Amino acid sequence: MTELNAIVESARAAFGQAATPADLENAKAQFLGKTGRITELMKGMAALSVVDKKSRGAAINLAKQAIEAALTERRTALAQAELDQQLKAEALDVTLTGRKRGMGSLHPVSLSMERIEQIFGSMGFDVADGPEIENDWYNFGALNFPEDHPARAMHDTFYVEGGNLLRTHTSPMQNRYAVQHVKKHKAEMSTGAVMPEIRVIAPGRTYRVDSDATHSPMFHQVEGLWIGQNVSFKDLKVVFTDFCHTFFETKELELRFRPSYFPFTEPSAEIDIQFQSGPLAGRWLEVAGSGQVHPRVVENFGLDPEQYIGFAFGMGADRLTMLRYGVNDLRLFFDGDVRFLSQFQ
Ligand code: PHE
Repeated sequence: MTELNAIVESARAAFGQAATPADLENAKAQFLGKTGRITELMKGMAALSVVDKKSRGAAINLAKQAIEAALTERRTALAQAELDQQLKAEALDVTLTGRKRGMGSLHPVSLSMERIEQIFGSMGFDVADGPEIENDWYNFGALNFPEDHPARAMHDTFYVEGGNLLRTHTSPMQNRYAVQHVKKHKAEMSTGAVMPEIRVIAPGRTYRVDSDATHSPMFHQVEGLWIGQNVSFKDLKVVFTDFCHTFFETKELELRFRPSYFPFTEPSAEIDIQFQSGPLAGRWLEVAGSGQVHPRVVENFGLDPEQYIGFAFGMGADRLTMLRYGVNDLRLFFDGDVRFLSQFQ
């Protein structure tokens, strides 16, 4: 009996030492295999008497059952250990932050446009939209461009089939909007009432045959027009100064109205700004063209220039965006490089 107990004990020890299922199967063979200890004992029974065979056989069977039980127990333990290991290795950390899908964002120039609309909206300006394919009348004629004006030449203007053109500025919106406005208030005006003031901005895409670091064949402008009975250059200065302070979020900014020429304004001025601090400090930067609307242009609105007067401006929205964000190459706006664009999220 002690011999059998010793075998069972050594089987338990051997199984306990088996670190893997393969080790365990090898250990099993030592006891239950064809030449294993138990098998050998069974074979040894052949020489015994019937009575001895019975008791010996029962004892060996008990030992065999004990070994099999130990084997099963160890198999289960090893399988469980393996499963635990696997679960640990393939663990899903549900507390990890997920990987987000890129959301995309508005283009910096669109952000500027929205900002400009908001600022002028707060000053009582309507926002108008108009066609990018224009005809000669709205783009030039209504704006008092003489027939032979150089801007009409092929090298400045993109012409499309049928004699139309891609608008070279947002100024055609002056006439489009004003004529509608006058039409709308015609009835009351014919009874002698004063026309409600025209106060509008028209943001949009514009086109010119031009391309370098500071010019793109497609660019953005925002037109402004304010017409009333008593609207002066002083109002232009106030409005535009206010706008710049709000747009750039600083009052440390000077404006200069530099005499210039446009066929549709008289007098005309380029508007330059200069920051008092920051990387651009001390340089005059041109941001808009402007002026008092020319009497002939007012006439083309269907209004009496003796009665109605005002100002217009056209600003470069790409330019303003470059200055606001410190972008030094206009082409970055049109390259579509996500690394650049995602900085404006
Ligand atoms: N349309 C002019 C340009 O593109 C700018 C401008 C607009 C000037 C309105 C005066 C008044 O350069």
